[in-house]
Amino acid sequence: MRGMFITAEGTDGAGKSTQLELIKEYLKGKKAIFLREPGGTAISEKIRELILDTQNTEMSAQTEALLYAASRTQLVNEVILPALEAGTNVVCDRYIDSSVAYQGYARGLGADTVEGINRFALENCVPDLTLFFDLPPEKGILRKNSQHKLDRIEQESMDFHRKVYEGYIKLCEKYPQRIRRIDASLDVGAVFALVKKELDSLRWD
Ligand SMILES: Nc1ncnc2c1ncn2[C@@H]1O[C@H](COP(=O)(O)OP(=O)(O)OP(=O)(O)O)[C@@H](O)[C@H]1O
Ligand SMILES: [Mg+2]
Repeated sequence: MRGMFITAEGTDGAGKSTQLELIKEYLKGKKAIFLREPGGTAISEKIRELILDTQNTEMSAQTEALLYAASRTQLVNEVILPALEAGTNVVCDRYIDSSVAYQGYARGLGADTVEGINRFALENCVPDLTLFFDLPPEKGILRKNSQHKLDRIEQESMDFHRKVYEGYIKLCEKYPQRIRRIDASLDVGAVFALVKKELDSLRWD
């Protein structure tokens, strides 16, 4: 039996990492691995450094989109597909929808272009369930500001983060079966109650 593939999406500071920790606990009885994007393999982690480095101000939107896709295809081939085929469940912090929202909508490359690049990169490795943590970006950045030094993407203007958010909303409308909208403005426990409902709706073996 193939493993379940679950991804977490949302604007910066929406609460993905917080909820993924709770999901990890909840799935303890099942075989599961937890990954974050970009990263998860030696090559992907090197690409991550390139992408997030605040020194790389000259990086073009095209370069950024291709680097994300390159990092992702390495993760898919080296880790995700072998795990799923071995019956292990895979939970990933960000995946293709992040590229479409950030590079497609917010950077303006176009959703279709970015989906096309990723279709080439991913060999049809599509999540069974995507949890979209729905929080207006203004609130997410406020949550983050108090936390750590912002990386290159997080340092973008509020206008950029707004476009990312609107991109996610369009993705929710395009893929209503796969992408489930979770109200992330609630407290941590209430958000997790919504997450559990979605997890329980999957057909686990
Ligand atoms: N439901 C919540 N209510 C209030 N604060 C929250 C909630 N969930 C998470 N937080 C806090 O908000 C901050 C950002 O949360 P978290 O790191 O989980 O977001 P994230 O979506 O993983 O962000 P990033 O995209 O940067 O990885 C943390 O300080 C966390 O403790
Ligand atoms: Mg996080």
